[in-house]
Amino acid sequence: MRSFSIVVAADLASGIGLKGGLPWRLRKDMSFFAKITSKVVPINVDASKQDGIQKVNACIMGRRTWESIPAKFRPLASRFNVIVSRDPHYFDDKPEKTNPMVALATSLDVALDLVESHQQSPKTIASSDAIQIDRIFLIGGSQLYAEGVQSKHCANIFLTRIQATVECDTFFPEIKESDYRLLPSEEGHTFLETFMQEPVQGGVIEEGAYKFEYTVYNRV
Ligand SMILES: NC(=O)c1ccc[n+]([C@@H]2O[C@H](COP(=O)([O-])OP(=O)(O)OC[C@H]3O[C@@H](n4cnc5c(N)ncnc54)[C@H](OP(=O)(O)O)[C@@H]3O)[C@@H](O)[C@H]2O)c1
Repeated sequence: MRSFSIVVAADLASGIGLKGGLPWRLRKDMSFFAKITSKVVPINVDASKQDGIQKVNACIMGRRTWESIPAKFRPLASRFNVIVSRDPHYFDDKPEKTNPMVALATSLDVALDLVESHQQSPKTIASSDAIQIDRIFLIGGSQLYAEGVQSKHCANIFLTRIQATVECDTFFPEIKESDYRLLPSEEGHTFLETFMQEPVQGGVIEEGAYKFEYTVYNRV
């Protein structure tokens, strides 16, 4: 199975959510999230041009996280959206049922198997169009993260650390030192820029009342 990365924003107490939504509104971090999850790195874009297949990344998320995304922003554009729910009929009465960029999976393993199959062979999305999955991201929420951090296939955790403690009712699981190494600030920044193949703002970023930093954990 190919590896995946977790993307999350958490406060100092690992809080990630409140009342089904995000506890903060950070425009710069939203933009970073959109970039890191959408970008197909040039070497892979060039490869895709050769065979005429569009490369896209996959975002796997829990059903509650899917529902937390405002309807006008879902499915997440230019990404293959996989929603995990125990209800195999979840999309039956919803418009996304027939959207080729949306899929339902009844467990994280089923979701990973599905996206891996579309990494290996393209998925037809229209009579003459096909997509092929490049990178795989697990984007929440806490239930899916709890399972995801334990997977040996989770290679990186891209964690935006908000330097505050905010009211939250949903939390990111413990990141065990035996499983992941937090890269020192400079090394994490270099890793991010190499991963994204573009400049990324380093150090502490300020937005409104918040300060935050993009941090990187690598699986040991
Ligand atoms: N700060 C961040 O970066 C970030 C990122 C994402 C989300 N969030 C926040 O996190 C909160 C949502 O997280 P959450 O933990 O409540 O929900 P979640 O993990 O997004 O979704 C939970 C749902 O996923 C399905 N599910 C979970 N484990 C499953 C399994 N093993 N097999 C099959 N289905 C499974 C179930 O759906 P069914 O009930 O349909 O069976 C479950 O109710 C929100 O507040 C959101 O804003 C924050």
